Amino acid sequence: MTPLSPSASMATKTFLPLSLFLLLLPISSLSSTLNIWPKPTSISWPIPAAIPLSPFFSIEPDFSSHRYLHIAITRYTRLILSERHRPIIPPVVNLSSSFLCSLQLSVSDLSAPLQSGVDESYDLYISSSGAALTAATPWGAMRGLETFSQLAWGHQPVVPIGLRIFDKPLFTHRGLLLDTSRNFYSVRSILRTIRAMSYNKMNVFHWHITDSQSFPIVLPSEPELAARGSYGSGMNYSIRDVQRIIRYALSCGVRVVPEIDMPGHTASWAEAYPEIVTCANRFWAPAGKPSLAAEPGTGELNPLHPKTYQVVRNVLHDLSTLFPDQYLHAGADEVNTACWEADPGVTRFISAGGTHDQLLEKFINLTHPYITYTLNRTVVYWEDVLLGPYVKVRPASLPTESTILQTWNYRAKNTKRIVQAGYRAIVSSSNFYYLDCGQGGWLGNDSRYDVQEAEPSDSLFNDPGGDGGSWCAPYKSWQRIYDYDILHNLTEEEAKRVLGGEVALWSEQADEMVLDAKLWPRTSAAAEVLWSGNRDSEGKKRYAEANDRLNEWRYRMVRRGIRAEPIQPLWCVLHPGMCNLEQ
Ligand SMILES: *[C@@H]1O[C@H](CO)[C@@H](O)[C@H](O)[C@H]1NC(C)=O
Ligand SMILES: *[C@@H]1O[C@H](CO)[C@@H](O)[C@H](O)[C@H]1NC(C)=O
Ligand SMILES: *[C@@H]1O[C@H](CO)[C@@H](O)[C@H](O)[C@H]1NC(C)=O
Ligand SMILES: *[C@@H]1O[C@H](CO)[C@@H](O)[C@H](O)[C@H]1NC(C)=O
Ligand SMILES: *[C@@H]1O[C@H](CO)[C@@H](O)[C@H](O)[C@H]1NC(C)=O
Ligand SMILES: *[C@@H]1O[C@H](CO)[C@@H](O)[C@H](O)[C@H]1NC(C)=O
Repeated sequence: MTPLSPSASMATKTFLPLSLFLLLLPISSLSSTLNIWPKPTSISWPIPAAIPLSPFFSIEPDFSSHRYLHIAITRYTRLILSERHRPIIPPVVNLSSSFLCSLQLSVSDLSAPLQSGVDESYDLYISSSGAALTAATPWGAMRGLETFSQLAWGHQPVVPIGLRIFDKPLFTHRGLLLDTSRNFYSVRSILRTIRAMSYNKMNVFHWHITDSQSFPIVLPSEPELAARGSYGSGMNYSIRDVQRIIRYALSCGVRVVPEIDMPGHTASWAEAYPEIVTCANRFWAPAGKPSLAAEPGTGELNPLHPKTYQVVRNVLHDLSTLFPDQYLHAGADEVNTACWEADPGVTRFISAGGTHDQLLEKFINLTHPYITYTLNRTVVYWEDVLLGPYVKVRPASLPTESTILQTWNYRAKNTKRIVQAGYRAIVSSSNFYYLDCGQGGWLGNDSRYDVQEAEPSDSLFNDPGGDGGSWCAPYKSWQRIYDYDILHNLTEEEAKRVLGGEVALWSEQADEMVLDAKLWPRTSAAAEVLWSGNRDSEGKKRYAEANDRLNEWRYRMVRRGIRAEPIQPLWCVLHPGMCNLEQ
């Protein structure tokens, strides 16, 4: 596939017909609304006036150099001058007769690293005599540049004047998880995804690199894992690929948090080290026996085998040298007793009075302190370690809030349990934030689909309201995502321990061919809520207003080379309000 380049030529062709529609617009649908996504915390534009950008428009920093911000400045200058986005409903403005020649940019703390909790606020002011963007850090400056780029519209780009924006995020963690194990994604498609994240002011790319199905990352101390466990034919990430992704992400203000899922979800490790993996390459769901895994691709690291820890430490060590981020995600979800018991050593351990929980605890004991003390990283685990078996999630010497648990099961009370126990939480509830749900099942030879008329007994599977074979059905529409309150039912104290959220694309039925449409604009819905919430200044949910803005935003993202899905027929965009269910 050839991903669309952001260059304008192709998009111009695609959208030429829109200008014809514009001629037919009734006067009543003309407006003076600025479409910015995610919506800024505070925006004031009392008089609808605008100023054309000089063809020589430039961004003028008041500092000499910042490695990543300068890349962003170059990218945004090019984008602002070349994008020429024509809003479907363009703002009606009085145009100033002069030109805007530059945007003055100042940053107070150039040395602030991109890390959890970094100040991302910015202040933007545009008048007929000039424009100024000030930010505390380079990362806040990037958010402000993004906003400025969205303010420009038209073939001869103009920007609003008399405009003031003050903006800062509600949550420090605004992430997207991409699973590159079930199906492979080229580096190019990952870079495009990170670029689209920065358009939406998201700041964490959670890279679920490996799983049972493939091990695509080439690690210096354990190269055999990818050599044997990747899908082959170049479907791997070299050290240079990883460095390229991290550097590009920094220029977009996006952290890259790596995850190597363990001890479950590790069948791919067995290609290199069969001795450390239990139940590898068995049929995952033997008839009349407990399932060995959540899906085909069985295998779990054996917590009783000493070699396991040698390999695991090499893997974790390499991760910490490759990825600068403070967070290291060590998985720990969905560990399955039946799979471990396929190993005779484990069976002996159990018959001698050992428990499943002790096996997991052993694994946690031997990895958590290593990650924390030796590698100096903050451990992130899936919630399962706390909510499933009874295990000590962390060494007693560590304060609880030093460990972060990511919640994914559908129950709202899971977040509550995590923060009540004192952990910090990242919310990825599958009921709202899983982008892969609702596509039906992907296991083959499934006779349940061979039904011409649904019987009451099939209702869960075949009825329109049923799950159709998708465990987390239905499909999470942008509205479902937008209206989700990740702090639901938490007290103010509890809410402080929620860092933010992540939408997740698990890739059993996705690869780079369909990536953009699976992610966008649904991920934008979460991005806005995590940036500035989903309520207006009176505290009412603002989904109706967001609908119109998201329509426009989708078209602008397409213009930028992101093949986002439409959320409505174009007719609805051209007839504001007419497609609302509740009038
Ligand atoms: C543009 O300026 C004219 C003259 O000052 C004024 O009458 C008109 O209302 C303005 N239009 C808008 C959209 O502000
Ligand atoms: C990774 O892919 C490249 C081709 O792009 C190949 O030359 C290399 O051997 C692969 N590395 C591993 C460890 O599989
Ligand atoms: C794990 O470590 C804790 C001390 O932090 C200890 O109390 C516990 O027994 C260990 N568990 C296992 C299964 O080794
Ligand atoms: C551990 O990481 C923190 C945060 O990145 C850093 O401030 C500290 O200096 C590191 N400690 C060591 C011993 O490297
Ligand atoms: C909300 O929290 C209370 C305890 O504070 C609990 O009893 C209730 O079940 C929770 N509701 C939901 C929907 O989680
Ligand atoms: C498909 O499932 C049927 C049982 O419904 C089984 O008899 C058949 O062998 C399966 N076919 C394949 C190719 O696995």
